[in-house]
Amino acid sequence: MITLFTLIALVSAVQDTSVAVIPRPVHLTRGTGAFLITPATAVVTDRATRQIGHRLADWLEPATGYRLPVTAASGAATRTIALRLDTTLSRLGDEGYRLTVTGTRITIRAPHPAGVFYGIETLRQLLPPDIFRAAPVSGVTWTVPVVEIEDQPRFAWRGAHLDVSRSFMPKEFVKKYIDLLALHKLNRFHWHLTDDQGWRIEIKKYPLLTAVGAWRRNSLIGVQHRYADTTQWVFDSVPHGGFYTQDDVKEIVAYAAARYITVVPEIEMPGHAQAAIAAYPWLGNTGQQLEVLNHWGVDQNILNPSDSAIHFMQDVLTEVLALFPSHWIHTGGDEAPKAQWQASPVAQARIRELGLRDENQLQSWMTAQMSQWLAARGRALIGWDEILEGGTEGLAPNAVVMSWRGIQGGIAAAQAGHDVVMTPTSNTYFDYYQSQDQQHEPLAIGGFLPLDTVYAYEPIPPALDSAQARHVLGTQGQIWTEYQRTPKNVEYMVFPRLAALAEIAWTPRESKDFADFKARLAQHFNRLNALDVNYRPLK
Ligand code: ACM
Repeated sequence: MITLFTLIALVSAVQDTSVAVIPRPVHLTRGTGAFLITPATAVVTDRATRQIGHRLADWLEPATGYRLPVTAASGAATRTIALRLDTTLSRLGDEGYRLTVTGTRITIRAPHPAGVFYGIETLRQLLPPDIFRAAPVSGVTWTVPVVEIEDQPRFAWRGAHLDVSRSFMPKEFVKKYIDLLALHKLNRFHWHLTDDQGWRIEIKKYPLLTAVGAWRRNSLIGVQHRYADTTQWVFDSVPHGGFYTQDDVKEIVAYAAARYITVVPEIEMPGHAQAAIAAYPWLGNTGQQLEVLNHWGVDQNILNPSDSAIHFMQDVLTEVLALFPSHWIHTGGDEAPKAQWQASPVAQARIRELGLRDENQLQSWMTAQMSQWLAARGRALIGWDEILEGGTEGLAPNAVVMSWRGIQGGIAAAQAGHDVVMTPTSNTYFDYYQSQDQQHEPLAIGGFLPLDTVYAYEPIPPALDSAQARHVLGTQGQIWTEYQRTPKNVEYMVFPRLAALAEIAWTPRESKDFADFKARLAQHFNRLNALDVNYRPLK
């Protein structure tokens, strides 16, 4: 079978722009002819795939104007799109699928529903790009080329992050973002909900977190690190804020789940917590009444390490756990300067009482507390690689590290037996410029991360042996929004780099081919146009 696939794949390696699936499927063989979708086409499902069948019918309706029936048996329909679970395909894993298109029938089979879902995502990409339009398009024949596809992801963690603290993003955009993740077969939405500049999730026990912490009076204009000194800072005069109610969160989590995406919430501690301290000053180290931060960078104001602050955060997480079924709960941990702990009698007493070496070890102790608290509730803590700095003693064995300051944190964590997600700035930070011609790009934090550098990324560090490499869950793209203030701006920074990231995360390493990817991307841009996505064109 594989040999046949390989043979036909070689024969059909000549570029065929009418089949341009991103991420590239593992095996794709092209036949002759096509399946034509007409108003008489029926979607036929079994019980387990019924919802996905309705999803497909919903997706096909706006552009075609056809409301395809979703039925349990093919009935009178001559041409059918059949979706079904097939346990004989268990070798395709939790998310793999097989898609067969002939002139009279489309069949998507998978051992699990997620695979059927990815099958319908692929099917959409086999149709003319106008299928992604929101209103009927005339003059298009809705053909699907005859193909045989067998496909499954390389990595289990295929993620995209979104910072909604620095710039609040409306709920409708969050849903659009989730749809775009699903289109690219990504399955983790890392929702960065709290930071110095805004607390964005309603917590019923602590209403000031949003009443106070979700609003800042203004925002710094221009790139912070380009100012020679802080006395030259210029601020706009526009209050900024917003938050998601618990009902909003439930709606988004359900929306994502229906697209086989796990929402991983991030509640930052002990650093990047000034919005929380502004709401409840006793969480800080100085007793000072702070404002929600109106500029960017690494802030000195961090949570204190008292029992009451830890209990506060556990109360917050109790509500978070009720809202998010995710196995992983992100507690940040990055960029927590220790000057306030060095000066704080509470922190110093804690260090003495626990016999700790220093403030880094104190942060590790706090992280360990949270990781054990989460593990006792059947969840796993995930944190940025700074959580390793004071040692991993006490860290729950199921804690996961996100390696962002390069790959060393990921290597160290995997070697210590922890799972890791590789998110190095060098290849996955989409808040960096996409071109060296910064004059002609929207304002960004700095850096330079062109599309080919994203595409070239290999998530498994060579330093890991094969047993350690199994701890690499996958990879994810980051979008921080200090300088990406609107959804359109976020789209510009994220696309097409997220398409490249998706291919790294899904497609076997040996099938990656940047020239081929770029050829498919030209077609993919037509889809993004139809979806009203403000991507950066190739220049
Ligand atoms: C980070 O970029 N501070 C995780």
